[in-house]
Amino acid sequence: MDLTQAAQSGLSLGFHSSPIPLQLLDQKQETRIDNEENQTEDEQFSILGHQMCIKRPRDNSSQSSASSSSTNSSKRVAMDPGLESRRAMVRAWGNHPLPIADPEIHEIMEKEKQRQFKGIELIASENFVCRAVMEALGSHLTNKYSEGLPGSRYYTGNQNIDQIELICWSRALAAFGLDSDKWGVNVQPYSCTSANFAVYTGLLLPGDRIMGLDSPSGGHLSHGYYTPGGKRVSASSIFFESLPYKVNPQTGYIDYDKMEEKAMDFRPKILICGGSSYPREWDYARFRQVADRIGAVLMCDMAHISGLVAAKECVSPFEYCDIVTSTTHKSLRGPRGGIIFYRKGPKLRKQGMLSHGDGSSHYDFEEKINFAVHPSLQGGPHNNHIAALAIALKQVATTEYKAYMQQVRKNAQALASALLRRKCRLVTGGTDNHLVLWDLTTWGLAGKCYEKVCEMCQITLNKSAIFGDNGAICPGGVRIGEL
Ligand SMILES: Cc1ncc(COP(=O)(O)O)c(C=O)c1O
Repeated sequence: MDLTQAAQSGLSLGFHSSPIPLQLLDQKQETRIDNEENQTEDEQFSILGHQMCIKRPRDNSSQSSASSSSTNSSKRVAMDPGLESRRAMVRAWGNHPLPIADPEIHEIMEKEKQRQFKGIELIASENFVCRAVMEALGSHLTNKYSEGLPGSRYYTGNQNIDQIELICWSRALAAFGLDSDKWGVNVQPYSCTSANFAVYTGLLLPGDRIMGLDSPSGGHLSHGYYTPGGKRVSASSIFFESLPYKVNPQTGYIDYDKMEEKAMDFRPKILICGGSSYPREWDYARFRQVADRIGAVLMCDMAHISGLVAAKECVSPFEYCDIVTSTTHKSLRGPRGGIIFYRKGPKLRKQGMLSHGDGSSHYDFEEKINFAVHPSLQGGPHNNHIAALAIALKQVATTEYKAYMQQVRKNAQALASALLRRKCRLVTGGTDNHLVLWDLTTWGLAGKCYEKVCEMCQITLNKSAIFGDNGAICPGGVRIGEL
């Protein structure tokens, strides 16, 4: 807080039996100004038994706050000749544009901009946000602390931040056609890894079991992963026990029968669908059946395909899942971050959808998940990101976004056809979504060499494990995305 401003505003507070003004400037200096001007009037009142007063400039002295503040400042200059110049320096520094404030970082940022514009970006998890999203990201919203949720924040001054987060909630639900009586959303996770971990933290105890697609089969580390040597890689496998299901090595499709068999033996408390490099649709109904058989919560991490889901360009997980998480920066085309949708209200009791069995008739995810995000795992939300996400979610509802997602799929299919015509081997033989997984092992190539050669040609794509290869050490393929 700039204390001098408060002094210049002519307001001061006193906490005393005979109220005295709170001294906002150097004692002697303030007294002199007061004595010289002696133009204030007191408004007295009491809070919690403490006498307080507000000192206001008299009308004649407040005709022009600009002129009164310039009088005050000229007096201070007279008292401390260095003060005004120090202040001017701080103000100037605060207003410097980036190239002046930090030429070194600015120059690197410009190079990165050129790299993004000139190269061909084919990393399936990256996208380009629109100008409005960037403006919100680089805005004053980054200045505000707002731990908590709309309507119940730790700090005051959050009336505008509350509005932004509420709009973000309603746009997030609208983007996926969700009824606010049946679904809630948390838009605060800093990333999807944190969103997933918040779900586990809220719903599980340390050591409880989770089951997701194996990383070399196209799953994500945050669904639990151990290296072939047994090293626990992500926090999800450090704090929880995980056993993965896998794809069929011949077809590249998820082996649902084996998944069911493993789930019946391992009995995870959370069964996870969704992955990082799986080019096909997910059979959510089958996952639901298995989850119901073992009394597990069914969670989908739709990080890669959330944009396709919103545009109805792929099957939606919401009909079958209890919890759905996503990144916000891949196909959704928003700022970097994570989002968690959770069911609320009465539990589904349809045949074959008995939902997880804690005996109660209502879902209890809301409080547990919100508490896990904050205060268990995170501090203040990144309000600039939440505003940017709200902007992206508004765009998701447009026909232009739908057209964009349709084109993304067409591009992926065109790429797949072109590669197949050239006798390249694609995992599952093609794609239903925005990415293709190219198995280079038949050509005796390693993913990391191919990736490097492409980088030298200004094409960025990434090496990717192909089931059955020694994924962690030498991935045998590349993933190519079309966002
Ligand atoms: C399926 C899936 N979940 C989670 C993540 C992690 O997202 P973040 O980088 O936001 O933590 C990714 C990232 O690629 C992903 O593909």
